[in-house]
Amino acid sequence: MQTTLAILKPDTVAAGNAGKVLAHLEKEGFTIRGLKVLHLTEAQAQSFYEVHKERPFYGSLVEFMTSGPVVPVALEREEAVTQLRKVMGATDVAKAEEGTIRKLYGTSIERNAIHGSDSPENAALELSFFFSRAELLAAR
Ligand code: RTP
Ligand code: MG
Repeated sequence: MQTTLAILKPDTVAAGNAGKVLAHLEKEGFTIRGLKVLHLTEAQAQSFYEVHKERPFYGSLVEFMTSGPVVPVALEREEAVTQLRKVMGATDVAKAEEGTIRKLYGTSIERNAIHGSDSPENAALELSFFFSRAELLAAR
């Protein structure tokens, strides 16, 4: 079993799609091990997406991610990292496969409904960004 981090982005929460996305993930075999609702500060969003700080879309991404509440979720299943990325679909909604979360609920390359960790190493780092070890253990 592996645990990864998803974030239901502000577009998903604002559109009232958070419950549908969580149901989609559960149907795909993920177990929710942690979940919270929070409105990221600019400093938090900048830090979370620091790997992209030299990219042209960084400022816009930080603005989007702080535009409303988000829902970080700790998700467990076999091959959780790879499987979440598959269920999410391509970054650009226009290129995402039919039936993926981004195709169903995203509206652009930026407003793409959900974040998912891209490696087990990043999953561990990103889980610890939002959840304490005690919180994750208490949910077992
Ligand atoms: P994420 O990190 O959110 O799971 O998305 P990802 O791996 O599929 O894509 P990544 O390259 O890590 O980009 C992070 C987020 O930045 C926004 N973005 N905008 N305007 C653009 O060209 C552009 N490219 C990326 C998206 O919100 C993307 O998910
Ligand atoms: Mg990424």
